[in-house]
Amino acid sequence: MTIALACDHSALDMKEMVKGLLDEMGLPYRDFGTNTTDSCDYPVFAARAAKAVASGECDRGIVICGTGIGVSIAANKVKGVRCALCSEPYSAKLTRLHNDSNVLAMGARVIGPELARMIAETWLTTPFEGGRHQRRVDLLTALEEGTDLG
Ligand code: RB5
Repeated sequence: MTIALACDHSALDMKEMVKGLLDEMGLPYRDFGTNTTDSCDYPVFAARAAKAVASGECDRGIVICGTGIGVSIAANKVKGVRCALCSEPYSAKLTRLHNDSNVLAMGARVIGPELARMIAETWLTTPFEGGRHQRRVDLLTALEEGTDLG
């Protein structure tokens, strides 16, 4: 499972922490930037990682900015991406079980590195439950394709 990584200038340290976790877990990754603390535009980097997931080049993605909100909005505009912004492990677990989220967003100015590590590890190791949740994920895909869900 290859992970697409992206962050903005506010979240370089947290992205490095995530890389360390992925190394420990033996998971390969691709880093889509940014790689400096120069002020940058989070949609550019989040979109690169999200597109890598949507295209199948990477299996999942982790995107990080100050709040996690900007990168999650950007990632969710890429067709095929289900990005979940998580600030605690319970949501990280449930979004894998129920939403089959393929991108995780976190806020480097919101949560500390230990919590982020716990969230990322939980999200990376929790499988999708399927069953009735598959139908709901299919509805998300239909909505994305312009279907009127009524
Ligand atoms: C950058 O200052 C900040 O706006 C960004 O990291 C993020 O929080 C946006 O949602």
